Amino acid sequence: MSSRILGIGSYLPPKVLTNADLERLVDTSDEWIRQRTGIVKRRILEQDSDPTIMGIEASKQALKDGGISAEQLDLLIYATNFPNMISPGSAPFLAQALDLGQIPFFDLKAGCSGFVYGLVVANGLIDAGVFERILLVGSEALSRVTDWKDRKTCVLFGDGAGAVIIERAPSGEGVLGVSLHADGKKAHLLRLEAGGIQIPVSHETIDAGRHFFKMEGKEVFKSAVTMMEFSSREALANAGIELADVDWIIPHQANIRIIRALAQRMKIPMDQIIVNIDRVANTSTASIPLALDEAYRDGRIKRGQILVLTAFGAGVTYGAVVMKF
Ligand code: UT7
Repeated sequence: MSSRILGIGSYLPPKVLTNADLERLVDTSDEWIRQRTGIVKRRILEQDSDPTIMGIEASKQALKDGGISAEQLDLLIYATNFPNMISPGSAPFLAQALDLGQIPFFDLKAGCSGFVYGLVVANGLIDAGVFERILLVGSEALSRVTDWKDRKTCVLFGDGAGAVIIERAPSGEGVLGVSLHADGKKAHLLRLEAGGIQIPVSHETIDAGRHFFKMEGKEVFKSAVTMMEFSSREALANAGIELADVDWIIPHQANIRIIRALAQRMKIPMDQIIVNIDRVANTSTASIPLALDEAYRDGRIKRGQILVLTAFGAGVTYGAVVMKF
């Protein structure tokens, strides 16, 4: 294992949507949303905004933080569930905006675990000597695929982006252990059905609302805690690191009750877990880099500390990365 995070950045669109705003849209209450999810507000990308702006701003910050220029990158990995276009995805638009020239890029789709999957892929490619410095972006404009009439989903999500520059590191620094898993039998739990080649968009699919993101919330909830606990423990074992030596856990921000249950099962106090779901809701692939960036900037997370990043999401996918930051 031989790569580390050189620079980090994030972006949140300025428009705030509070629980009180949602009370005016659907039959819900601030109390229900806070108690059942821990969410108080979220950011929403304006209807007329180009979603690329989120990746651009997060990447520029990450480049600045890492003290390098875009010309020094040799790969872009863009983790997202809902790309700018089904084809060619999102990465080409960000590469164009950042003027990345002829370097390769690709979209990575692994549900909300996309950022963790991206870290493992980037680490492997650097370890194999294929690339030196990789830009990994997690960006999501979930508001664009949300059914604003469905109270079961619309209260949960927010928009945002996070980016990291990953580069070769001396042994013993950066990524120390990883764990990736998935279970295709649970593919139905989180889905946007229409618009792919199995169910192309038609008047019927639009009338039936099949172009919106849907999920079996309760079923996802049940698996989420076990999956993140399993992966975190496996990645720690692979790294040869004891739980007692971990400084911070940065879990995917899907529901505060999932995060609390994870803390309880791992026997880690909540004050060692980074939480920002109250302010940004579930931003899918952006959730871990957003939380990491925020805690790094406000001084909680420091260089040299041991971090566990863990996520689960559509697929279902799950995983964890243990790193010396
Ligand atoms: O990134 C991964 C993506 N997704 C997730 O991680 C989601 C994981 N799941 C969850 O976070 C939770 O299951 C939810 C927050 C989605 C739902 O919480 P829950 O405690 O599992 O609630 P529930 O679905 O069992 O619903 C309880 C009640 C129901 O009413 P009845 O049938 O008991 O009368 C729902 O109709 O709450 C009702 N309800 C709501 N009430 C007010 C569901 N959504 C709302 C709402 N406002 N927004």
